[in-house]
Amino acid sequence: MANKITSIAQEDEKFPPSQEFRKQAAIQSLAEYKRLYSESVKNPEKFWNTQAKDLLLWRKPWKQILKWKESHAKWFVGGKLNVCENCVDRHLGTPRENKAALIYEGEPGDQKTLTYRQLHTEICKFSNALESLGIRKGDRVAIYMPMVAEAVVAMLSCARIGAVHTVIFGGFSSESIKDRVNDCAAKLVITADGGWRRGKIIDLKVNVNQALKGCPSVESVITLKRTANRVHMKKGRDFWWHDLVESASHVHKAKAFDSETPLFVLYTSGSTGKPKGVLHTSGGYLLGTTITSKYVFDLRESDTYWCTADIGWITGHSYVVYGILSNGGTNVIYEGAPNQPGPDRFWSIVDRHKVTIFYTAPTAIRAFMKWGDDHIKKHDLSSLRLLGSVGEPINPEAWKWYHKVIGGGRCPIVDTWWQTETGGIMITTLPGAVYSKPGSAGLPFFGVVPKVFNDAGKEVRKGTSGKLVLTEPWPSMLRTLYGDNKRYKETYWSEYEGVYFCGDGCRQDKDGYFWIVGRIDDVLNVSGHRLGTAEIESALVSHHSVAESATVGRPHEIKGSAIVCFVTLKDGFKGDDKLKALLRAHVGAEIGPFAKPDEIRFAKALPKTRSGKIMRRLLKDIAAGKEIHGDTTTLEDVGVVKQLQANKD
Ligand code: PRX
Repeated sequence: MANKITSIAQEDEKFPPSQEFRKQAAIQSLAEYKRLYSESVKNPEKFWNTQAKDLLLWRKPWKQILKWKESHAKWFVGGKLNVCENCVDRHLGTPRENKAALIYEGEPGDQKTLTYRQLHTEICKFSNALESLGIRKGDRVAIYMPMVAEAVVAMLSCARIGAVHTVIFGGFSSESIKDRVNDCAAKLVITADGGWRRGKIIDLKVNVNQALKGCPSVESVITLKRTANRVHMKKGRDFWWHDLVESASHVHKAKAFDSETPLFVLYTSGSTGKPKGVLHTSGGYLLGTTITSKYVFDLRESDTYWCTADIGWITGHSYVVYGILSNGGTNVIYEGAPNQPGPDRFWSIVDRHKVTIFYTAPTAIRAFMKWGDDHIKKHDLSSLRLLGSVGEPINPEAWKWYHKVIGGGRCPIVDTWWQTETGGIMITTLPGAVYSKPGSAGLPFFGVVPKVFNDAGKEVRKGTSGKLVLTEPWPSMLRTLYGDNKRYKETYWSEYEGVYFCGDGCRQDKDGYFWIVGRIDDVLNVSGHRLGTAEIESALVSHHSVAESATVGRPHEIKGSAIVCFVTLKDGFKGDDKLKALLRAHVGAEIGPFAKPDEIRFAKALPKTRSGKIMRRLLKDIAAGKEIHGDTTTLEDVGVVKQLQANKD
């Protein structure tokens, strides 16, 4: 009962935008939002036709707006464009030419600004360099770089020449690089001699060298000199970035590519051990990210926008690179940690660069809350006018703190629900049009039709929880999983016939606002990173001491979920602290340091049903220290539970 009352109270708490914000916004009222939304879903082809013409530069018009056949979408069929030209070239010769496209700040404090003109020159040179190494349309290029301006140059240069980039987050280990590079058979890897994180150098090139011992498809490696790190360069395979661009021409003509030309593959976790290569293509993806950047962030010519996401994740792709640059925005990018040299680094950046729009993740917001308001008060944050949140549900307490302490009570917050697969924002509150409710992502974006289904595939009544689905195709949707169309269909389109199932649980309130309650599959959200429990389990069992393992999440104050692993050992191994440390390091080496388990519990056996299925629900309760309720009659050996409960860290 108490729970119910709190949840009703939350639902009724509304934060409308100020009159001042509203007056200047692109969409200024609920009525206007409703009218446009209704147009977009009643006649989606007409809506997207107009938007594609208005927002993007096409070299050849399309013949058909949407071709839809059993989970496979083609948007703007027959149309041709160049994504890089849309993000950069088309701003030249306009007042944006000398506007800052990227304001970059490295962790040690080095700074660089690239105007659209300068960014264009860098991209042209690098595109020529890529072509000089034999990279052509359709070739896959892996990018494993720190969050520096050159990483953006690398992505856009791939787009310019029609190569397909796959960005691998710099926190991944050499094993993870190897898996990804091999899955898409990348021909080239672009990396750096290192990157700065918390005052230390991350040895990116060392990881690449290690990975490439097992990557037969890779012919060349380009390395950016970012630090004074000495790295091993293999003759004939390895090239320095500066050597290649020095001799490259600054003239590069962008070719037009078909709208459905693959733009990138981005690997993301699913409920099996192997990451999924989400494939996005050109025209539809760019339109989706451009229109959402324009309306959700209410981007204006004078804005200085900062999204703190790394380009290794979809947020960095869509809302650092493609959507923002396509709108001619000014992007701040920062290489390092939020608490380097001190916990006020972000606020110092906002203050010095006069950031107006700030987009970050709830896990970061919770960390700032913990670090205390004093670090924030040292800086002038009055330039901020809009705040955003992404990656996981934001708890109302963190929402309100963000609104009050960071936003000074005057900035609307857009809580944006979307996924690697959706390419762009799907559910949010358009900031000048509608009020926000702390904890709810809000209402569907144009053209998006979310519904909450029960297990039988029927839409549930408002207020009832169920599974979130999207019933209509949208331009920036993933097209398939790279090289695995079967898994694409099974993962997203088999739960309900002809409907996209996103893996999240959800409830819609009486006002139509969507409340995402988190993943319902075996995927954890750890500090905003998506991690499959099966991925961690398979890393654990690859260690010679481990017989079996099961991984679950436990609610964590800052990270959202903590990783708890239950492990049974092979005969002859002792489950002590030394082995725990070894196993944590092993998972770090297999996946990446951010995937290291928070807790490891050893047991003689795992709780299983009589048919041999691990009882994860039970393990989740054990991990959270809860009383074991519910039905345990199917449990094969009740003694196991007692042992697991006792073996806490
Ligand atoms: O569970 C949802 C959660 O993050 C998942 C998507 O993760 P990923 O593909 O890594 O993309 C993250 C950045 C878009 C979703 O299935 N999620 C993301 N944003 C929100 C969210 N959950 C609640 N509210 C959000 N705003």
